[in-house]
Amino acid sequence: MKLFKILLGLAAVGLIGGVLFVYFGVFNVAADEPHSKPAYWLMETVRERSIAVHAKGIKVPSLDDASMLMSGGADYNEMCSGCHLRPGVESSELRDALYPQPPNLTKTKRANPAETFWIIKHGVKMSAMPAWGATHDDRRMWAMVAFLQQLPRLTPAQYQILTARAEGDERSHDHGSEGGDSKETMPGMNMP
Ligand code: HEC
Repeated sequence: MKLFKILLGLAAVGLIGGVLFVYFGVFNVAADEPHSKPAYWLMETVRERSIAVHAKGIKVPSLDDASMLMSGGADYNEMCSGCHLRPGVESSELRDALYPQPPNLTKTKRANPAETFWIIKHGVKMSAMPAWGATHDDRRMWAMVAFLQQLPRLTPAQYQILTARAEGDERSHDHGSEGGDSKETMPGMNMP
């Protein structure tokens, strides 16, 4: 009985502590202040476990079709390169301002294509990674996965060829990006 009372007391203290922690704004949500090491570790672990569990059972189609690469490349250039960069571009204003910072996908790729697909389709909560499944079908997202498998190997010239959208392609987005400066703003997001 005594042990029960102690546990109940501890739970009450924990609950009150939690409420005060939230109410007094102890946690700083500012994106320009990095997480503490333990908080960072916890979030990384939660994210990686979540992705691994949810991506289990996704069947990976063949990813080495040339037309897939072209379609995935054009989509990547238009929708993703502002955050995830492209060969020859080391930073973007958008990427530099985000926390967590979007990974540079011209340097690294995830080993597991099913996980890559899941991330593209569903996005990542509490980061800037959008859920593209709301507006794109699976085939189109697999094409981006195929492109991401090759991206770390591409030179700026190869990237340009692979990401050129065929004239009249109705799937084109109206915010294409041009130019090869080493610092760029998000395509289509330059406010006057
Ligand atoms: C507004 C910025 C933004 C845009 C646009 C964006 N992403 Fe992301 N993306 C992120 C962020 C931030 C993360 C990291 C999330 C985290 O650390 O929890 C991420 C993570 C990822 C990852 C996981 C990388 C890894 O292995 O951990 C992939 C794959 C990815 N994005 C693909 C894409 C693709 C493909 C597109 C375009 C269709 C895209 N992203 C568009 C911000 C963005």
